[in-house]
Amino acid sequence: MPKKRIYLDYAATTPVDKRVMKAMTPYFSEKFGNPSSVHIFGQEASKAVEKAREKIAVFFNCSPTEIIFTSGATESNNLAIKGAVKKFYTEPKNKGIKPRLITDSIEHSCVLNTCRSLEKEGLAEVVYIAPNKEGIIQIKDIAAAINENTLLVSIMYVNNEIGTIQPIATIGKFLEKENANRKRKILFHTDATQAVNYLDCDVEKLGVDLLSLSGHKIYGPKGVGALYVKKGTLLTRIQDGGEQERKMRAGTHNVPAIVGLGKALELVMKEKSKIAIKTEKLRDYLIARVLKEIPQSYLNGSAKKRIPNNANFRFDNVEGEGLLLSLDLEGIAVSTGSACASRSLEPSHVLLALGLKHEQAHGSLRLTLGKTTTRKEIDLVVNKLKVIIERLRKISGDVLKSFQ
Ligand SMILES: Cc1ncc(COP(=O)(O)O)c(C=O)c1O
Repeated sequence: MPKKRIYLDYAATTPVDKRVMKAMTPYFSEKFGNPSSVHIFGQEASKAVEKAREKIAVFFNCSPTEIIFTSGATESNNLAIKGAVKKFYTEPKNKGIKPRLITDSIEHSCVLNTCRSLEKEGLAEVVYIAPNKEGIIQIKDIAAAINENTLLVSIMYVNNEIGTIQPIATIGKFLEKENANRKRKILFHTDATQAVNYLDCDVEKLGVDLLSLSGHKIYGPKGVGALYVKKGTLLTRIQDGGEQERKMRAGTHNVPAIVGLGKALELVMKEKSKIAIKTEKLRDYLIARVLKEIPQSYLNGSAKKRIPNNANFRFDNVEGEGLLLSLDLEGIAVSTGSACASRSLEPSHVLLALGLKHEQAHGSLRLTLGKTTTRKEIDLVVNKLKVIIERLRKISGDVLKSFQ
């Protein structure tokens, strides 16, 4: 009989909720119109897109006109950052000035690489703030990085590898005060991709101008996301084409996926608090068992300021890749870090930024829980993990001995 598989990689992606799928289904063939078309087919599709936009606006406590649909958080982050920089260069008052961007060194690669490419093209100067040992960004470091040319601060809400929660609302308040005395407003962007399932994402309370999200992390479909753009925030679009999304994002709307995103957020809103409590309990149980029963195991990142579904462990004298593959053979899916970087042999930039040595970063494993994860699954995983770690440590110990 095939082994029952256990998925503990919900930070990489989530399955589409059946209720989301049901909402999406008619828009593949029955109601297939292009929302930009004038006729009845187009109107039907356009209505569905606008309804989804309204649901999203309710979730983020903003106006529907402040939501731009994209293909996911990668695109939203690109649009937010490149769009702000591009706009900066269209304004005559900025002639001869290079804008400064402030971000941090544990951002997702789509933010880091966006910043790096702007730097490389000579379009922006970027300050990458290091987190403290717990994986938290300090406001004093943001304050110290600000200069008169600062255009934008981009700090993620929740880190995708270690699950640490950044003080977004406090940074928002700090920037609001800072902006009161400045000629040039500093824009505040947050990548909320990993936060939406569990945290308050009210944009008013967070004090953000720009916020990115993705469908597939919240039991919605892949290939869809959105960018919240506060009214009055000026961006220049980064993709040329049609006039969709009030000329901010060209390309035919992915109607089924947009409908799915709206439904997914509606469900998160209804079910979030209950799921967060249950998940956090299970996650704490997982952490407690691992730290107690597996020698030389440690938790990466703050234990307290942490999203309810994330556990990221460091196991000394063992290779994370070996662990991952051994668990995979047992039907257990986990990861060593971000899914986007999983084919790279480089240690995680997030773990290195916490001050871990290369070999410590290589011995780390991320387990992320989902809304259907059970205690029985957690028990099974911990039991397997104990046996596998013991075996791998013994093998590497034997190899070392053979060289002595
Ligand atoms: C924090 C964070 N930002 C951005 C992304 C990219 O999202 P998408 O897959 O929607 O482009 C991810 C997903 O891996 C993520 O975890």
